[in-house]
Amino acid sequence: MTVLAIVSPKGGCGKTTVALNLSLAFARRGWSTLLVDTDPQGAVGLSLTRRVADARGLAEYVAHRRPLGEVVIATRLENLAILPIGHIAIQDTPGFHAALADGAALGRLVEEAAAAYHLVIFDTPSGFGGATVGALRAATHVLCPVQAEPLASRSVTQVFEVLAWLRDNEVAVEPVGLLLTMLQLREKDSLEAAETVWGGFPEELVLEPAVPRDPAFLAASSAGVPVGLLSRRPPPVAMVFDKLAAELEQRMRLTEKEPDDGPVALVD
Ligand SMILES: Nc1ncnc2c1ncn2[C@@H]1O[C@H](COP(=O)(O)OP(=O)(O)OP(=O)(O)O)[C@@H](O)[C@H]1O
Ligand SMILES: [Mg+2]
Repeated sequence: MTVLAIVSPKGGCGKTTVALNLSLAFARRGWSTLLVDTDPQGAVGLSLTRRVADARGLAEYVAHRRPLGEVVIATRLENLAILPIGHIAIQDTPGFHAALADGAALGRLVEEAAAAYHLVIFDTPSGFGGATVGALRAATHVLCPVQAEPLASRSVTQVFEVLAWLRDNEVAVEPVGLLLTMLQLREKDSLEAAETVWGGFPEELVLEPAVPRDPAFLAASSAGVPVGLLSRRPPPVAMVFDKLAAELEQRMRLTEKEPDDGPVALVD
């Protein structure tokens, strides 16, 4: 079972956007994918329709131990399902973080999900509160979005500190890489920030695709859909996630093939 946590110390750097659009890309490439929102603010639901934002979800699964099948929302895509955050009152947020911190509840979720999904993706809240640490403990891999803006690379070092601390506690989650987000190649500050990341970390740690800053993301969240579903002919930026999914398949060794997979003849 492959479990990818999308994690960053910094808020607003594109974690939820990446989690949602990458889940769609994996599903379209044939991987049965479950996107799990672990952010008490319910960011995944807020990016989608009201039905997802208002639904029961992870909070109910954790508190009442409801079977996963009762809280997961199927989507119109055969290979994509979503577990929204569910209902958490503001005053219950610290308790929710505490309940997730040891990784047991999310570990149980992963075990149950293994029967039906190839891949679980955790969207996490920014920082290293209980929900994020719990997601890291239950994950096999971690992806870290880094916003291409001044000082961005500073926050990245915190991720590696947390991974080192987890390793000392016998939790081996493998970094699949840093993903530059909101990149503006024509803006000096943004380009310089990207260059700091490209130059400051080993080449194999920085993913080749980068997510450009693009107004399509605003249009997509207003419409309550991933950018790939904005229209029948999605904007070019949607392709970044296909490229990213293809690269991550290799890095996460998600290489199980269908028995009949292989070259497809163009003409009989
Ligand atoms: N590449 C992009 N181009 C333009 N806007 C973007 C891009 N990525 C994300 N956004 C917008 O930036 C805002 C923050 O993005 P998002 O919610 O994905 O970040 P986050 O890291 O999940 O935030 P939080 O830390 O609050 O969970 C959203 O309004 C989103 O639509
Ligand atoms: Mg978010």
